Amino acid sequence: MARTNVVKFNWLALMICIALGAPILSMAALTCCQVKPTLEACKCFARNGGDSVPQDCCYEAMNLKNNIISSGKDTIAACHCIQEAASKIPDINATAFSIIPQSCGIRLPFNFRLGMNCDSL
Ligand SMILES: *[C@@H]1O[C@H](CO)[C@@H](O)[C@H](O)[C@H]1NC(C)=O
Repeated sequence: MARTNVVKFNWLALMICIALGAPILSMAALTCCQVKPTLEACKCFARNGGDSVPQDCCYEAMNLKNNIISSGKDTIAACHCIQEAASKIPDINATAFSIIPQSCGIRLPFNFRLGMNCDSL
């Protein structure tokens, strides 16, 4: 059930991205739209922290790693998108935010630190 909702939400996000003219059908580099579902799913934990990262958040972070980031250039783009989106989350708990990938058991080439240096990846 929950999984179905997540998929539906992604489709919605995808449609919005298409409507905004993001070049997702081409093999163009990653756009910030593609990172949005992860941020949406993780926003609540990033603000409030908690004992464990919500499943939806881990699922989206895993999806980001496995299906969206496909090159070194994507990694840098994703890093910038995440950093920019995070800076717009009011009252973000930097500690909670930074532990998301490792708490999900996901190895990303970058962490979710607010001050990460994306260009050095
Ligand atoms: C931030 O999140 C961490 C990890 O969940 C938690 O231990 C800490 O209490 C939180 N801090 C605040 C100010 O909410």
